[in-house]
Amino acid sequence: MSATTTFPPLSEDASQAMAHVDGRRLIGMQRALASFGGRADGGVAREALTATEREARRWLIQQVAGPRYSWHIDAAANLFLRRAGTDDSLPPVMTGSHIDTQPVGGWLDGAYGVIAGLEALLALDAAGVETRHPIELAIWTNEEGSRFSPGAMGSSAFVEPASLAASLLSTDAEGVRFEIERDATVAALPEASTVPLGRPVQAYVEAHIEQGPILEASGCRLGVVTGIQGVRWFEITVRGSCAHAGTTPLDNRRDALMTAATMVGRIGEMAVSLGDPALRLTVGRFEAAPGAINTVADRVTFTIDLRHPEDAVLAACERRIREIVAEGTGACVAEVARLMQRAPTAFADEVVTIVEAAVATSGEPSCRLVSGAFHDAMHLADVCPTAMLFVPSHGGISHNAAEDTDETDLIAGARVLAGVLAELSR
Ligand code: GLV
Ligand code: MN
Ligand code: MN
Repeated sequence: MSATTTFPPLSEDASQAMAHVDGRRLIGMQRALASFGGRADGGVAREALTATEREARRWLIQQVAGPRYSWHIDAAANLFLRRAGTDDSLPPVMTGSHIDTQPVGGWLDGAYGVIAGLEALLALDAAGVETRHPIELAIWTNEEGSRFSPGAMGSSAFVEPASLAASLLSTDAEGVRFEIERDATVAALPEASTVPLGRPVQAYVEAHIEQGPILEASGCRLGVVTGIQGVRWFEITVRGSCAHAGTTPLDNRRDALMTAATMVGRIGEMAVSLGDPALRLTVGRFEAAPGAINTVADRVTFTIDLRHPEDAVLAACERRIREIVAEGTGACVAEVARLMQRAPTAFADEVVTIVEAAVATSGEPSCRLVSGAFHDAMHLADVCPTAMLFVPSHGGISHNAAEDTDETDLIAGARVLAGVLAELSR
C-alpha cells in the first residue's frame, strides 16, 4: 500500500471498537491460552482434539458471558462463540482460527487469531456497539493436520459437509480415530448447542501471525493478505521384504528403506534443479517398519508437502514426483497417494479493502502479501467474501517453540480486526 492511498473512512462504530481494544487484556488471554500445553521452552504441545485441547476450549467459552453470547458446535467439532446481532436472523460475520498446534508448536500459530477475535468481541462490548449481523468467533478443528490428516479439516467440512465422512475415519499415529476424539470433544462442551455444517456466512476475516519473514524485512507492522498459495500433500509408501541383516547379500534384497531414501534424494534434487524461488517442497515424515536394527525394512512411508502460488507449477511437480517414484522402485513396489490438494486462493477485494481501510485508520504501516502458510480462511473463501490480516513473526520463525511476535504488533492487529468486524457486521 502506498502511503498516499486513501480509503473511505470507517464508521464511528468501527472506530469505537478499535479504540476499546484492551492490549493488556489481549496479552493476558494470549498467555493464558498458551498455558494449555505450554512447555518450559516456550513452545506449546496441544494437538487437535486431545484432552489438553479440550481444556483450552472449556477455558475459551468461559471468557464470554451475558445474554448476548451463546456457544455452538458442529459435526466437525468446530466451536463457535456467538455475539448476537440486532437482526439475529442474518448470517453471521465470522472471525477465528485454530487452537490446535503442531506436535510442538509456538504459542501464537492459530491461537493469535482466536484471541484477537475474542478481544475484538470484548472491545465491541466495552464500546457499547450493537451490530446488525451476529458475529461468531470460530475455533476450527484440526487446522494443523499433524495429528489427523488432512489439515484444515474442520473448516473444510464446514464449507463442504460431504468431506466429513472421510475425515471421521482418519487415524492418528496411535490408531485413534478422529470420530472418537470428535465425540469426546463435543461431550466435553455440553453448553454448546449443535449447529449444522454448511451454514451461510456473511463474511470471514482471520487474523494470524505471518509465520514468514516478509513483514519484518519490509518494516510493515501489519500485512493485508490478498490470497494463499496452493498446496498439495502426498504420502508415498514403498514396500519391500524383511530380511536378515547379517546373512542377506546386498544384491538380493527388497530394501524399502534404501529405495525410499534414494527417492527422497532425487525428489529433493528435482526441486532444487527447477531453480524456482517460490517453490516449497518438504519431506516432514519418514517412517520405516519394522524398525529393527538388524532387519531389512519392508515398509516405508514418507510425506511430501508441496507449495507454490501457481497451480500449474504444482501439477508439473506432482508429475515429476510420480515419475521419480515409478522409476526408482527397483525390486520394491511403491504407490503415491495424494492426501490434500488446494489450488491458490484469491481473497475478496471488498474485504481486503475494508482491512486496508482499518489499517489506515490505525495509522500503522502495512503491506499487501500472499500467505505462504495455508489457513482456514482458504476454505471459507469458497463460500463468503474473505480476507486475512497478518502481524510479523520474529525471524519468520513458526512451527517452532521459538515462534514470537512483539506485543505491540499483536495489539495493533487486534485493533484492526475489531474495526473490520464492526464494519462488516453493520
Ligand atoms: C499450516 O499449518 C500450514 O502448514 O500451512
Ligand atoms: Mn495456523
Ligand atoms: Mn500451523
